[in-house]
Amino acid sequence: MKVLVATEKPFAAIAVEGIRKVVEGNGHELVLLEKYTAVEELTAAVGDVDALIVRSDKVTATLLDAASKLKIVVRAGAGYDNIDLDAATARGIIVENTPGQNSNAVAELAFGMLIMAVRNMYAGTSGSELQGKSIGIQAFGQVGRNVARIAKGFGLTVNALDPYCPDQVMEDFGVQPIHDLQKLYRENKFVSIHIPATAETRGSIGYELISLMPKDGVLINTARKEVIDESGLAQALSERSDLKYVADVRPDNAEELLEKFPTQVFFTPKKMGAQTTEANINAGIAAARQIVSYFLDGDTRFQVNK
Ligand code: 3PG
Repeated sequence: MKVLVATEKPFAAIAVEGIRKVVEGNGHELVLLEKYTAVEELTAAVGDVDALIVRSDKVTATLLDAASKLKIVVRAGAGYDNIDLDAATARGIIVENTPGQNSNAVAELAFGMLIMAVRNMYAGTSGSELQGKSIGIQAFGQVGRNVARIAKGFGLTVNALDPYCPDQVMEDFGVQPIHDLQKLYRENKFVSIHIPATAETRGSIGYELISLMPKDGVLINTARKEVIDESGLAQALSERSDLKYVADVRPDNAEELLEKFPTQVFFTPKKMGAQTTEANINAGIAAARQIVSYFLDGDTRFQVNK
């Protein structure tokens, strides 16, 4: 079988070597399309492949139409909002993700940005410490759990909200469950967002929630830009010069926010939460193994379009 790794934002070379070993070691062929700049390159590359590994690369119905032999797409990562699941399902194509494989990397970056925010964007003026404050984690999935683990090391009190996670799971992590979203924002100086972008969550965090945050609040977004109501965020920042918003998912109104609130916002130039050698190895090799396992005995444990 022919396996294509198509990554506009490439994996570390050592991760690609690992993927190659798994794919070729199991008798399949590996093809690479890295750092492509035009969707036409991707469309041309999928024509004769049986399996596809992507990151945040867009897998649209049009792309799938060009991939007549494609049987399985694995998103090497957690969020699969970049893949048209309905289109894949309609064409009988399996879609999988690799949950948990890059979550520590994302959680560590959340703290990198949080510390930058409480130290006044490293301006050298007197900032504040994390110890003794509280953090609210919005969604207690794999990234949220890593954030909780690291938060405890900083001496933070940890609260979390996740309607899909039983309280007991949070309590086992030493985390206080919160069931009211407004309470999460009102009672935590720091809030870290870890919800996926879905029809339900898009634009769900806006003025009403953000303006509830306590004095000197910091909102951290390593999830998806789409979950933020950007005009509501701008309004909250303009009314509350003590609030900060730091994100690894650059909003569409980034330039406007950077110009109006230069000391209150920070955005990474390109999404880099999962951009570590370790996360690339973990997610890339997991994706390769899942493909090999599917072709070997039909294993679809990680399928997300069932
Ligand atoms: C994910 O959903 O796994 C993260 O957002 C990482 O995305 P990336 O592979 O594009 O860095």
